[in-house]
Amino acid sequence: MSRRKMLYEGKAKILYEGPEPGTVVAYFKDDATAFNAQKKAVLEGKGVLNNRISEYIMEHLGRMGIPTHFIKRLNMREQLLREVEIIPLEVVVRNVAAGSIAKRFGLTEGDALPRSIVEFYYKNDDLEDPMVAEEHVTAFNWATTQDMDEMIAMALRVNDFMSGMFAAVGIRLVDFKLEFGRVYDQNDMPRVILADEISPDSCRLWDANTNEKLDKDRFRRDLGNVTEAYAEVARRLGIMKENGSVTEEGSPE
Ligand SMILES: Nc1ncnc2c1ncn2[C@@H]1O[C@H](COP(=O)(O)OP(=O)(O)O)[C@@H](O)[C@H]1O
Ligand SMILES: [Mg+2]
Repeated sequence: MSRRKMLYEGKAKILYEGPEPGTVVAYFKDDATAFNAQKKAVLEGKGVLNNRISEYIMEHLGRMGIPTHFIKRLNMREQLLREVEIIPLEVVVRNVAAGSIAKRFGLTEGDALPRSIVEFYYKNDDLEDPMVAEEHVTAFNWATTQDMDEMIAMALRVNDFMSGMFAAVGIRLVDFKLEFGRVYDQNDMPRVILADEISPDSCRLWDANTNEKLDKDRFRRDLGNVTEAYAEVARRLGIMKENGSVTEEGSPE
């Protein structure tokens, strides 16, 4: 399929060397995994949808002044990105109790949290992404205290923007996961920017009226109609036409 050099194959994407130094191309696969890749499936069309949804969100965040790795979408499955040195943390923002926080603290799924909560997990599949405290992050040199403050501030801005964006189309943003990376400017000073993807794979999205899940929990919990739910998110955001095809606006050369 490609003459480009493959850099890394992950669970959901393949990274290729980009056309310019300091760039990479991310190819969005249809592969779905859950529970640390113990559960696997191919969901036809998922990669196309996540490519478009992530593009849409990253572009809006960029316009709001949040620095991101996103440069442009190249085609139905690929986007051009600034290459970053990934910080090995998953930064999770939660507005409503669901998933591990409900289990850990005995909360009922769906309960609103007293305020938005930001959590850090060590990104390591072999260890099943354990939750970490600031002490671990700084002691093991994954990030500095200043990096962490910046990630928290950016994550909360992303939360504000996305909560409003989804509320406007009848979707509740329950929680989501972000990844950040480092880039080096001319003076070799490191800077932390938003990386990876934002999609129904990395968010919990519930219909505001029915609480119907429109995210990867449909796959985790065998609820069926997974890609249909992702397509519904894309449709509500105006990325997809009523007939199900993706719009041509912003299409590649
Ligand atoms: N701009 C970027 N530069 C370098 N690596 C990136 C960038 N954005 C995301 N990545 C990394 O690309 C890898 C592939 O993505 P994915 O398939 O989601 O992997 P994973 O199996 O770790 O979830 C991940 O390790 C992710 O951290
Ligand atoms: Mg991933």
